[in-house]
Amino acid sequence: IHVEWDAVTAEKGGFDHFMLKEIHEQPKAYRDTMLGRVDESGRRVVFQDLKLTEEQIKNIRNVQIVACGTAYHAGLVGRSVIEQLVRIPAENDVASEYRYRDPIVTPETLVIVVSQSGETADTLAALREAKSKGAHVLAITNVVGSSIAREADDVVGTLAGPEIAVASTKAYSSQLIAFYLFGLYLAQVRGTITEDAAAEIIAAMDALPEQVESMLANTEAIKGYAEQISKHQHLFFIGRGQDYAVAQEGSLKLKEISYIHSEAYAAGELKHGTLALIEEGIPVIALATQEDVLEKTVSNIKEVKARGADVMVITYEEHVVNLLKSVDQAFAIPKTLPVLTAALSVVPLQLLAYYASLALGHDVDKPRNLAKSVTVE
Ligand code: G6P
Repeated sequence: IHVEWDAVTAEKGGFDHFMLKEIHEQPKAYRDTMLGRVDESGRRVVFQDLKLTEEQIKNIRNVQIVACGTAYHAGLVGRSVIEQLVRIPAENDVASEYRYRDPIVTPETLVIVVSQSGETADTLAALREAKSKGAHVLAITNVVGSSIAREADDVVGTLAGPEIAVASTKAYSSQLIAFYLFGLYLAQVRGTITEDAAAEIIAAMDALPEQVESMLANTEAIKGYAEQISKHQHLFFIGRGQDYAVAQEGSLKLKEISYIHSEAYAAGELKHGTLALIEEGIPVIALATQEDVLEKTVSNIKEVKARGADVMVITYEEHVVNLLKSVDQAFAIPKTLPVLTAALSVVPLQLLAYYASLALGHDVDKPRNLAKSVTVE
């Protein structure tokens, strides 16, 4: 048998598209991003090359997280992680807004810019704005030699490896890992976490790669659901807390490559307007992993169900039986700590976007009108 391999096919490593390959590279990206950043005891995070001193960390009064696109969405999760673990006020900005809103920055402000490429013009401009106002700027980036990495005061590298598909997957999830690690580090230095609690989170992080692998080994249900939604023109994602942050990323992913219009809504906000758009048969994807607000999300699910929505819920296995009383379909993700859920719950949403795009015959890796890296304003 003679098999023809061109260079691109070879680079895809047997996958049909770079995006699918990159989704499958997430377990490795998680492991690589954690490598060397946890001490031998497994109870402490270490960042060896930070210029940010322990003294400075103790003095931080607020955190601003600035980025574009998918990196912005990782920042939404990052904010929640930092607020939960460190109890410092944190806010999110899209970079194109940040630099023009005359942001209030003091020397006690830590600005975190997030960028896969490290070259996004708006993010770079935001970094310069923050620096000129005296903030300490830390970059979470996948490209160590990039402009953003060079100009930032500190760099926390994600080790996702090159990302080719325009729709970001492994870069996003590695950014989450970077936020978990950095959030833990800040919490340790400021004494807002016990070593036992840190060890519990670190152990749960160690389990994430295998948990992602288990989801990737069984994608038939998501594929089937993607084919179902590919027949629709509009759909909604709902969730609360970190589920809402992930919903926004899921919605963006779907828009980028399937061109299906979707909106992500904070589940409790639906009733203030968007509920008017819910009609018979419209798909609603509900993320319901955050157990402290599960009951609340369930009542929002019932609100859309009552108006005819077709609801698919993403939740933990243990809630499936109960939730199936209120929804049409359920997809279970492996159990982890609430603070880490995004690293798992995003995976079915990435696959959903991928298979929906495929079902519609679009160019998965190179969607129309979009560029991998936007280096102009
Ligand atoms: C472009 C890409 C997005 C990406 C955004 C930010 O719009 O299409 O996928 O999220 O830029 O890119 P960055 O490299 O700064 O993370």
